[in-house]
Amino acid sequence: MSEQKVIAVCGKGGVGKTAFTAMLTKVLMEKAPGKLLVVDADPALGLNYAIGRESETTIGSIREMVLQKAEKSTKNELTELADSVEYLTAQALDEKDNFSFLAMGRMNTIGCFCSINDLLKNAIENIMHSFEIVLIDGEAGLEQINRQVIEKIDTLILITDTSFRGLQTVRHIKKMVDEGLVPACKNLGVVFNRAQSDVSALKEFAEKEHIHVIGSVPYDKQVEQFDLEGRSLLELPENNPALKAVAKCIETAESTGK
Ligand SMILES: Nc1ncnc2c1ncn2[C@@H]1O[C@H](COP(=O)(O)OP(=O)(O)OP(=O)(O)O)[C@@H](O)[C@H]1O
Ligand SMILES: [Mg+2]
Repeated sequence: MSEQKVIAVCGKGGVGKTAFTAMLTKVLMEKAPGKLLVVDADPALGLNYAIGRESETTIGSIREMVLQKAEKSTKNELTELADSVEYLTAQALDEKDNFSFLAMGRMNTIGCFCSINDLLKNAIENIMHSFEIVLIDGEAGLEQINRQVIEKIDTLILITDTSFRGLQTVRHIKKMVDEGLVPACKNLGVVFNRAQSDVSALKEFAEKEHIHVIGSVPYDKQVEQFDLEGRSLLELPENNPALKAVAKCIETAESTGK
């Protein structure tokens, strides 16, 4: 297997992380069918609708079930349970020909079965390692990504709308990266989403903050309409302008350094 590539999408609430991730899923699954794992790392979930998957089992729900069992187990039962963690975790993986999907769900901590937690971590790691590209839809900050098993991010895409507040979140995340509070990442940059007007002032601001500008994705009526209807964005036509812009963004992000 060639070296694994991890792409994470982050940004303030509602800026279009999920829509961007879904469109990027379409781009990547066509480039590398079967080699892509898409991860919903937002505890509130929702990416599954945008990519036409129905999975209800999350890593969080499996973890809770395993930990609940562990609390009531005898020593022997605990050993048995430990042996089945890998198998149980794999139940959360929604595998299809074009790409696979994994929802992290909520990670409530109940009890402390450190050995079980370690086994779960290993199991997730094993799942992730079997894919060439891992694409993560994150939440506002990088908390989930940080707490989980992602050791490194190759490309961190910071999404913002064209608001000043969105850019402040981007600045905050960049600061966290610079301070080493999140996994190391090779490429980092901002994407202006739902752009309806000239973004040159925002670009200037980003550059002043030493944040690489990857590009922008236009406001697109069809994207909004699909989301309104709960329709998968994978069904967008190839010539959709937002989809084309997302394809360009990933090309730029990967060809330029931090
Ligand atoms: N380029 C775009 N053009 C038009 N509408 C868009 C675009 N990108 C996102 N949207 C719309 O903006 C809304 C928010 O998008 P989305 O759910 O992807 O944001 P999010 O950052 O994932 O939100 P959350 O933080 O709640 O997870 C949705 O209604 C979506 O259809
Ligand atoms: Mg989202």
